[in-house]
Amino acid sequence: AIDPQFTENREKVDEHNGHAVWGPVDEPEELGIHGTHVAVDFDLCIADGACLEDCPVDVFEWVDTPGHPESEEKADPAKEAQCIDCMLCVDVCPVDAIDVDAG
Ligand code: SF4
Ligand code: F3S
Ligand code: ZN
Repeated sequence: AIDPQFTENREKVDEHNGHAVWGPVDEPEELGIHGTHVAVDFDLCIADGACLEDCPVDVFEWVDTPGHPESEEKADPAKEAQCIDCMLCVDVCPVDAIDVDAG
């Protein structure tokens, strides 16, 4: 599962689509965590798609990640600022790749 303490245990190494990327990153095999309020561990995501289908405010968008061992696309929290903290995505992800900090 995604580490809920990732902001303490990882370093912010990049920006993507307006959100932070938390390393380590070593493309294409290691992609890190995308987002902060809505965080997706790209190294765990298997492209199940439940988060994209269920999010009521369409926070997620597919991004292509060719060459990643788990899946060749990932759910990117492209609009994390729109999140209403419903926690549906956290509940439906089969690999617990998503953390939402509802504060
Ligand atoms: Fe969307 Fe709810 Fe997940 Fe926020 S917590 S990203 S609103 S499904
Ligand atoms: Fe990936 Fe989990 Fe969404 S596997 S596509 S983050 S439901
Ligand atoms: Zn991203």
